[in-house]
Amino acid sequence: MKDLFDLGVTKRRFGVVGYPVEHSKSPQIHRLFGQHRGLELEYTAIQLDRGGFVQGVHNLQAGGVCGLNVTLPFKEEACQLCDHVSERAETAAAVNTLCFRDEDDIYGDNTDGVGLVTDVEENLGLKLHGRRLLLLGAGGAARGVLQPLLKAGPQKLVIANRTAEKARQLAFAFADHGPVEAVGLDHLSGYHYDLVVNATSASLSGQIPMLPDTLFAANGLAYDMMYGDEPTVFMQWAEGHGAGQVSDGLGMLVEQAAASFYLWNEVKPQTEEVIRLVRQM
Ligand code: ATR
Repeated sequence: MKDLFDLGVTKRRFGVVGYPVEHSKSPQIHRLFGQHRGLELEYTAIQLDRGGFVQGVHNLQAGGVCGLNVTLPFKEEACQLCDHVSERAETAAAVNTLCFRDEDDIYGDNTDGVGLVTDVEENLGLKLHGRRLLLLGAGGAARGVLQPLLKAGPQKLVIANRTAEKARQLAFAFADHGPVEAVGLDHLSGYHYDLVVNATSASLSGQIPMLPDTLFAANGLAYDMMYGDEPTVFMQWAEGHGAGQVSDGLGMLVEQAAASFYLWNEVKPQTEEVIRLVRQM
């Protein structure tokens, strides 16, 4: 912890860097966490040019910023920049949280996966131990949540991707972390899952992956890592195809922010109220 903060002399400063970043909800979320916990902090969204990530981070660190969240497209670059990283960041090969503990030291963590697991288990009430999980997609978003999903102890985790080979490569890379398998989207029929996570980027273009009609076990949860003002197309599809519960990824966003906040401030924020407030913004 910085001495000045301990003495209450200055506000600790944080931010989120990305390109683009102006629509990020992270500033509102972290300010609400700070208000609820009585911590004076500043948190701003900072756009960095694609070629200017490393220099931008070093400038912010030198300027006294205590920590940064990292969003697209810089999460992989952030991992390479760190002096040391957590195990979950190393397996994801991506960092969403930078912690500047010393002037010359950058620690990186990835709180995306734990944000997802906390939202599913604590907020939505689905304990993952012994469950059958389906992860749709094999890009950076899927990779970032795999290790915490497997750590939750599912009976089986299937990665299904339009390009089956990418799912196979990902399953191979995570084979030591738990019972993970891979299939193409066209080989999904006949199986039922307690949790189906949409980690594809299909929702961005208003599309859903081609999925069989019967995918959900009784009371199965459909979880879209995307969020918006309206239910995503994946959520709408799932509601009409037997999901017992559907959710967007706003809770994951707040929970990953909470895990970053804890890393920086060693104080656990309240999330339930913040999810409700951010939903209304
Ligand atoms: P991100 O970093 O958001 O994960 P990405 O690395 O480009 O983005 O990965 C996008 C993922 O969404 C991929 O798994 C992609 O499938 P392919 O590997 O077959 O390209 C998946 N995806 C995108 N649009 C899709 C669609 N319309 N239907 C099914 N999968 C789709």
